[in-house]
Amino acid sequence: MIQTIRGFRDILPGDTALWQTIEKTASQLFEDFGFQEIRLPVIEKTELFARSIGEVTDIVEKEMYTFPDRKGTNITLRPEATASVVRSYIQHKMYAADPIKKLYTIGPMFRRERPQKGRYRQFYQINAEVFGISSPFIDAQLILMLNELFKRLGLTDLTAHINSLGCPECRPTFHQALLDFLTKKKDRLCSNCTRRMDKNPLRTLDCKVPECREALKEAPTTLDHLCGGCSDHFDTVKTTLEKQGVDFIVDKTLVRGLDYYSRTAFEIQTTALGAQSAVAGGGRYDALVKELDGPEMPAIGFAIGFDRLAEVMEQLKGPGKVKAPDLFIIPLGERAMEKAYLWSSKLNLKGVRSETDYAGKSLKALMKRADKLGAGHVLIAGDKELDENALVLRDMKTRDQTTVPSDDPIDNIIKILTDKGTIRD
Ligand code: HAM
Repeated sequence: MIQTIRGFRDILPGDTALWQTIEKTASQLFEDFGFQEIRLPVIEKTELFARSIGEVTDIVEKEMYTFPDRKGTNITLRPEATASVVRSYIQHKMYAADPIKKLYTIGPMFRRERPQKGRYRQFYQINAEVFGISSPFIDAQLILMLNELFKRLGLTDLTAHINSLGCPECRPTFHQALLDFLTKKKDRLCSNCTRRMDKNPLRTLDCKVPECREALKEAPTTLDHLCGGCSDHFDTVKTTLEKQGVDFIVDKTLVRGLDYYSRTAFEIQTTALGAQSAVAGGGRYDALVKELDGPEMPAIGFAIGFDRLAEVMEQLKGPGKVKAPDLFIIPLGERAMEKAYLWSSKLNLKGVRSETDYAGKSLKALMKRADKLGAGHVLIAGDKELDENALVLRDMKTRDQTTVPSDDPIDNIIKILTDKGTIRD
């Protein structure tokens, strides 16, 4: 038997109902905030990710699915979507008429991490990205929007962690202070950190090795080295969130795992998934559009971990409900079977979830099946009922029965089900 590859999984019908709820709620909310959907390829040139996420990051150093295509170009299954959204924004000159663009995209990402609960090698993200606005109000608005989404989904035990990572003006002083600190602690750091510390000292701060975490407890923080501009920006983000009633924690240790961030960085964290605590993460990336050969353009965004969000919701509320048929038509006999098929299709075309039998099973077996499927009603169509022009429509819950003429049952059935309010969405 061929099975899925380690870290890859099927999202089965029992789960997709919940996934659809999340997707609908998110896209509705994002569109109310002026976002438009964009769909992007899952494979890009490797260079796109190396240049944006950063050469000296876990993702680029060890987690990307990269392979040469037949002509030898290195291509990569996208480990995240921001780089692709930026590439698309530049490639299609979306900034030309109006630099302000709000885009969202939903789809699979690929990272070759060690699989565990809440961590997969193919996982899904819901991304939202805003181009062309440097105001801190938009930073607050994205966090507000995430907060609202989680509220609408009924999740309350999530916490927004926010930090500021500074900008090219204040970064050099911070880097120097961090490097001085790291040099003193060098003996206690893992080989990865000592290797990375000169090239990209910030990365040592998100090292997961417990000894490094301990050694870096007193490390200098970006917040202590912000320039005036970054400091004002961060203050406005915080006061705006307060004014809008969004709870948050200032988390000086939050550095994120990708290199493109500047100023505001944030994560929405949960305690429900053990080590994989981030349900969403994002931040400002004001330099990235220019770095990828576009114009100077401020930008900010986030990605929600779809799989993790679904898992938190399932823990809290149980699995989503599989949609049951509104009607199950029970044909008894050859003549009835064709009619049942034609009626059932007609009902499907008119928006009624109708099912029927194709195998000529007995009334008893089909009643059992209708019950198992959770059908709201059954329509019994035997030769007798056809001869008498009186089909039996039975409410599976109340057991009430009505007769419906067999020469034209469709409109009658729709009327009865609609009047009873049993056609479900
Ligand atoms: P990220 O923090 O790498 O950021 O990923 C965002 C979210 O994706 C995480 O918080 C987590 O919920 C989910 N996630 C990441 N890796 C996995 C995995 N292996 N299995 C399951 N879920 C996972 C980014 O990707 C940035 N592009 C976010 C962003 C958008 N920043 C600005 N705009």
